[in-house]
Amino acid sequence: MKKIVISTGGGDAPGLNAVIYAVVHASARKGWEVYGSRNGYGGFLDIDDMVRLTPRDVEGIYSTGGTILGSTNKGNPFSKPVENLAGEIQIVDISDKILRNFNRMGFDCHIAIGGDGSLDIAHRFAEKGMPVIGVPKTIDNDLNQTSRTFGFDTAVATATEALDKLHSTAKSHNRVLVVEVMGRESGWIALYSGISGGADVILLPEIPFDMHEVCNKISDNELHDKNYSIVVVAEGAVTKDGRSFNKGMGELGRDEVVLGGVGEWVASEIRKITEKDTRSLVLGHLQRGGSPTTFDRLLALRFGTAAVRLVENKVFDHMVALKDSTMISVPIVEAIKARKKVDLSNDKIMTAREIGICLGDKDEGQEV
Ligand code: F6P
Repeated sequence: MKKIVISTGGGDAPGLNAVIYAVVHASARKGWEVYGSRNGYGGFLDIDDMVRLTPRDVEGIYSTGGTILGSTNKGNPFSKPVENLAGEIQIVDISDKILRNFNRMGFDCHIAIGGDGSLDIAHRFAEKGMPVIGVPKTIDNDLNQTSRTFGFDTAVATATEALDKLHSTAKSHNRVLVVEVMGRESGWIALYSGISGGADVILLPEIPFDMHEVCNKISDNELHDKNYSIVVVAEGAVTKDGRSFNKGMGELGRDEVVLGGVGEWVASEIRKITEKDTRSLVLGHLQRGGSPTTFDRLLALRFGTAAVRLVENKVFDHMVALKDSTMISVPIVEAIKARKKVDLSNDKIMTAREIGICLGDKDEGQEV
C-alpha cells in the first residue's frame, strides 16, 4: 500500500485534470491511496486543503479544463512573503514545515504537476529528502527534455481558430490585425498557430524583430493585391535593439514579471510607418482555458500513468517526458536547466519562410 499526494502548480493548462484522473485510477487499481493538495502546497499547511481523491471523486474530469485542485503561481514555499506584526512583508522559507507535514501525514511520494517554476520547487524538496515525481505542464511548451507538454496543443488550436476568424474582418476593412499570444521565452504557440492560421508575420522571442521588415511585408502584401495583413506576436518577443514589453512584477509573491504590451506597440508602429488602419488584440488567458484537445488528453493520461509507474519503481526526483512518441523519465534537474527554445533550423521555421511568412528579420529568399 502506498499513499500519494498530487499538486498542481503555476498557471493552469488544459490536461491537468486528465493527469489527476490517470494518477487516481492507476493508483486505485494497485490499492494505493491518493490525496490532492489544494492550491499548490496548500494541503501541507492546512489539513482542510488536503483532499482524498478516489475514482468517484474524479469521474469524467479528464475532459475538463483547469484543475480541480486549484493552482497558484505565487506559492514558492522557499520564499513566501508573509506580513509580520508591524505590517511589513518578510520573505520566509516554510519548506521545512511542509516536509515535516508530508512525513507526518505518511505520504510515500509527491507527484508535482507543473512548469519550470513548480518543478524547480519540487526538485528542491527532493534534495531535502521528499520522494518527488514531476509531470511537465505548460501551454508554452518550453520545458526541456520533453518534446511536448500538455496544454500546448489546446492553446495552439484556440489561437489558430482565433486567427481563422480574424481573416474575414481584417479583409473586410483592409486592416492590419496584430494578435498577441502567450509564450514567455519561446515562440512555439506563435509559430504553430501563425503558420496554421495564415499569418503574414510571426514574431518570436527567438528572433529579435525589425519593424521595417514587418512593415515591408505589409507593403509587399499590398503590391500583391492583398490589402490586409495578420501579424502574430509572442508576448515575449523583443525588438532588434533589445526592447521588451512587460507590466512589472504583478502580485506579491510572484517570481516573474507579467508580460504584455508588445502587440499594441507593434500595432502603433505599423500605424506610424505604413499609415494602415491597424488594430491589436491580446488572446491572453483564453489560450489556457477550455477542454483539452484529444492530443492533450491522451498525453496527460499517459503522463499520469507513467508517473505512477515511476512511483512503483521508486524513480524519484525524475520527470515523465515524451520523446520520439514514447514515455521516458528524465532527472528533473535536466528539465529545469534551461528553456526549450524554437530551434531556428527547424523545418517549421523553413516552412514559414518558404510560404512567404515574415519572421521579423531579413528574409534572404524574399519573393521578387
Ligand atoms: O507560463 C504560461 C503562461 O501562460 C505564460 O505564457 C504567461 O506569461 C503566464 O503564464 C501568465 O501567467 P498569469 O496566469 O499569472 O497571468
